[in-house]
Amino acid sequence: MLSKRFLLAVLVGAAMVLAALLALVAWRAMSGDPEPVRFDPAEFVAPRPKLDAPYVATDYEVVDAMLAMAEVRPNDFVVDLGSGDGRILIAAARSHGARGLGVDIDPARIREARANAGSAGVTHRVDFRRQDLFETPLGEADVVTLYLTEEVNRRLRPRILSQMRPGARVVSHDFGMGEWRPDARQRIGTATLHLWIVPARVEGRWRLTVDGRDHALQLDQLFQQVEGRIAGPGGPVRVEQGRLRGRRIRFIADLGEGPRAFEGRVTDGRIEPLAADAGWRAVRAG
Ligand SMILES: C[S@@+](CC[C@H](N)C(=O)[O-])C[C@H]1O[C@@H](n2cnc3c(N)ncnc32)[C@H](O)[C@@H]1O
Repeated sequence: MLSKRFLLAVLVGAAMVLAALLALVAWRAMSGDPEPVRFDPAEFVAPRPKLDAPYVATDYEVVDAMLAMAEVRPNDFVVDLGSGDGRILIAAARSHGARGLGVDIDPARIREARANAGSAGVTHRVDFRRQDLFETPLGEADVVTLYLTEEVNRRLRPRILSQMRPGARVVSHDFGMGEWRPDARQRIGTATLHLWIVPARVEGRWRLTVDGRDHALQLDQLFQQVEGRIAGPGGPVRVEQGRLRGRRIRFIADLGEGPRAFEGRVTDGRIEPLAADAGWRAVRAG
């Protein structure tokens, strides 16, 4: 036989459980259903930047060859477009005493490059910035380094030609720049390096004075190649084998006394001969 006291305890316990359940139901009814938990990975992972070239680091041996090919000198300002882990500029600063700016669209690469520059002790010489390489100004650069794609190099070409000063150098790992043929090429293992020297602009009309006589000179230019004609005493004369290397120009013309080589330097609307006694000079006429 169950005792009365035990039955009472069971009844009181059951009543308390029932009261708790009722309170819970009432609370759920008042507060409504809780919001389902949402997980949106985009809130936790930053969107991947759109890359115009994938990240592949240049081998250190090739980095050294690129810097040697561009003849990087102390205090040269080197810009690496798509700078990855920063190795090209860090080597330029450590081995050549250069200054540098690296831009990359991927913030992870910028963090990595800054950390590497810190470990290498060159943060006072190099800077890394998150930026689209198509928006990076190039006017201050003595040297631009590239490891991108041929298509990206082609798209960069007008910026290089219009912004970089004559004589500035561009070196590219593996990829060319379309119709703009490099001034030099070099193989390093399986890699090919391309070097361009930004040419002065000489296209247009000049007044060429040779041995005291003035001639109209018309120059046409395709990158570093130059053609043209001179209004000579006996009729038009072709400008042949014309070539620019930065500000240096060379061409051959026969003004009636046999082929003559004209070698000069282009500065501010003038072409001055390299040899002081060369007997010619040219001044821009349009
Ligand atoms: C082949 S890696 C070269 C890395 C480094 N210059 C080297 O040679 O070791 C190309 C780099 O370009 C960066 N990149 C791609 N598109 C870019 C853009 N539009 N603007 C800036 N950087 C870009 C990539 O994130 C990558 O780090």
